[in-house]
Amino acid sequence: MVAGYLLEMIRQGQTLELAGFLDDNPTLIGQHLLGLPVLGAIRDWKTVQHDAAIVGIGNNRTRARIFHELTCQGERFTNAVHPTAILGPEVRLGTGVVVGAGVVISFGAHVGDNVILSANCVVGHHAQIGTHAHVGPCAALAGRVVVGEGTLIGAGASVIPGCHIGDWCCIGAGAAVVSPIPDGAVAVGVPARIRDNNR
Ligand SMILES: CC(C)(COP(=O)(O)OP(=O)(O)OC[C@H]1O[C@@H](n2cnc3c(N)ncnc32)[C@H](O)[C@@H]1OP(=O)(O)O)[C@@H](O)C(=O)NCCC(=O)NCCS
Repeated sequence: MVAGYLLEMIRQGQTLELAGFLDDNPTLIGQHLLGLPVLGAIRDWKTVQHDAAIVGIGNNRTRARIFHELTCQGERFTNAVHPTAILGPEVRLGTGVVVGAGVVISFGAHVGDNVILSANCVVGHHAQIGTHAHVGPCAALAGRVVVGEGTLIGAGASVIPGCHIGDWCCIGAGAAVVSPIPDGAVAVGVPARIRDNNR
C-alpha cells in the first residue's frame, strides 16, 4: 500500500529515478508491480544498482526493523517529498522520510528518520516527530507538539499545542489529544482517552 503511494508521489515529483522494488514475498520476485520490477528480496539490496532506498512499509515496527537492519549494513536512504508539500523555514527532515501530497510542515519543525507524513497532514511550528513515526492523512499537530518514536497518529486526529505523545503509541483516527499520552498507550476519542496500555 505504502509502496504504491510512494511510487505515485515520486513519479509526480519526478526528482528520483526508480530502479524497482525489493520484496520478501518470493512469488513477487521477477514480477512487475505498478509498472516497476520486483528485483529481489530485501536481503538482496547490495546486488541491485541504486543510490539510495526508502522503506515503503506502513507498519511502524516493521519499517523500523528494516530501516535499522539496512542502516547497519551500510544502506543509504533518501527522502520522497511530494511537490505539493509545503515546508517552512528551518524545517529539518531526517532521512528515509516520506512527505505526502498537501502536507504542511511549519517553521522550525523537526521530523526524524524513516517517518511517514501522509497526505494533507499538518505538522505545526517547532513540532518534533520521532523516528519511525507515522502521521496519518489529515491529522493536525499544533505547534510544539512532540510525537515519540514509532507512534502512529491516526487519520484526522488533532493534537493541541505543546502536547507530548510518547513512544510507540497509537492515537485513534479522529481523536483530539488534549493531555500528554504515555509511552505505548492507545488513545481514542474526543477528548482522547487511553484505551489499552498493553499493545
Ligand atoms: C484506535 C485503533 C488502533 C483501534 O483499533 P482496534 O484495536 O482494531 O479496535 P477495534 O476496531 O477492535 O475497536 C475496538 C473499539 O474501539 C472503538 N474504536 C476503534 N477505533 C476508534 C477510534 N478511532 N475512535 C473511537 N473509537 C474507536 C470501536 O468502535 C470499538 O468500540 P466497541 O468496543 O465499543 O465496539 C484504530 O481503530 C484506529 O483508529 N487506527 C488508526 C488508523 C489510521 O488512521 N491510520 C492512518 C494511516 S493509513
